[in-house]
Amino acid sequence: MIGRLNHVAIVVPDVEAASKVYSSMLGARVSKPLALESHGVRIVFVELPNTKVELMEPLGEASPIAGFLERNTSGGMHHVCYEVEDIEAARDRLLASGARVLGDGKPSIGAHGKPVLFLHPKDFCGTLVELEQV
Ligand code: CO
Repeated sequence: MIGRLNHVAIVVPDVEAASKVYSSMLGARVSKPLALESHGVRIVFVELPNTKVELMEPLGEASPIAGFLERNTSGGMHHVCYEVEDIEAARDRLLASGARVLGDGKPSIGAHGKPVLFLHPKDFCGTLVELEQV
């Protein structure tokens, strides 16, 4: 059911500093920072040959990743995102197998303008999983 790894998301305290780590130290191609107000994050994309890494800094008081950064002060891996062809079919299959879908279970529009869902980390080896329909 799942296809390509679309991205790995890493929460960081400072997206500019994190960009330098990836561009200068690791020699990766990194985009300019982008503020996604409605998602409460500032992000940069690290473009790798086979996938992306998204570095995310909390934006605003109500940022959904503020608590994560409080618990992981130097940052840390937040989620992995797998591509699916049909997100509602994927959700129904997961619900039928007993997995928990976060929120109201309806796909929302994610940071890339595509429908996404998040799955409970306790059902997926301790890792928050995002599904994105491509
Ligand atoms: Co994501």
